[in-house]
Amino acid sequence: MGNGANSQYVDKLIRSHNLISEQMDSPRLHILLTNLDRIIVNDIKGEVVEFGCYVGTTSLFIRRLLIKHSSSKEFHVYDSFSGLPDKTIEDASVAGIGFKAGELKATKRDLVRNFKKAGLKPPVIHKGWFNELKPKDLPQNISFAFIDGDFYNSTTDSLELIWPLLSNGGVIIVDDYMRSNLPGVYRAISNYFANKDARITHQKNLAIIQKNTPNNLNTAAGKALRPDQLWHP
Ligand SMILES: C[S@@+](CC[C@H](N)C(=O)[O-])C[C@H]1O[C@@H](n2cnc3c(N)ncnc32)[C@H](O)[C@@H]1O
Repeated sequence: MGNGANSQYVDKLIRSHNLISEQMDSPRLHILLTNLDRIIVNDIKGEVVEFGCYVGTTSLFIRRLLIKHSSSKEFHVYDSFSGLPDKTIEDASVAGIGFKAGELKATKRDLVRNFKKAGLKPPVIHKGWFNELKPKDLPQNISFAFIDGDFYNSTTDSLELIWPLLSNGGVIIVDDYMRSNLPGVYRAISNYFANKDARITHQKNLAIIQKNTPNNLNTAAGKALRPDQLWHP
């Protein structure tokens, strides 16, 4: 089995379908899907999860790529479906007062409707706050996770649930890693992985976090960065 170096069909997938909200763009989606593609092609064990799915902008493409590979991986999404929670001190930023509690609210019905409209099978949908979830609410093996909760606690709560269940060679992608108006995401990743053996790289405001990736596995993520190369909010 190859390493998935040929991702022309990822480009085609992105060109062939509209993004249904501004919460994702083509360059970031390309990075995300290329990483998922390699997880599938390299047969990394475990299911796929998205924490913070909103209307399903990214979820629709994740489903399309799973279908392209006839993958048997389950796809689970998690959201309050009540929008963002309150910010905490770690989210404080001079760069803006946006992102208020209740913003970015979509209903479960909105999400299902968007999948139906696209002619795609909806994911397994979990409604609730991330800090109320238990490990049993997640698949017990995860190969790929996308975290898009915008805030410090949302990101930390997601990482605490997902990291112990992530397979060797698995990947977590976190959005908004270096957005000055969402500094909590960077802080959450820095604090959570301070004493863990994770390989963290970043591309276009996405953090790409790998677990025990074998050297012979050609992942889409670049080289690990030294601490002095990391961005600080
Ligand atoms: C930026 S949007 C996600 C965009 C989505 N990934 C997409 O591609 O359209 C953030 C989402 O995270 C959810 N969210 C943020 N923090 C959360 C938390 N602590 N618990 C549950 N949902 C949360 C919000 O309800 C919102 O739908």
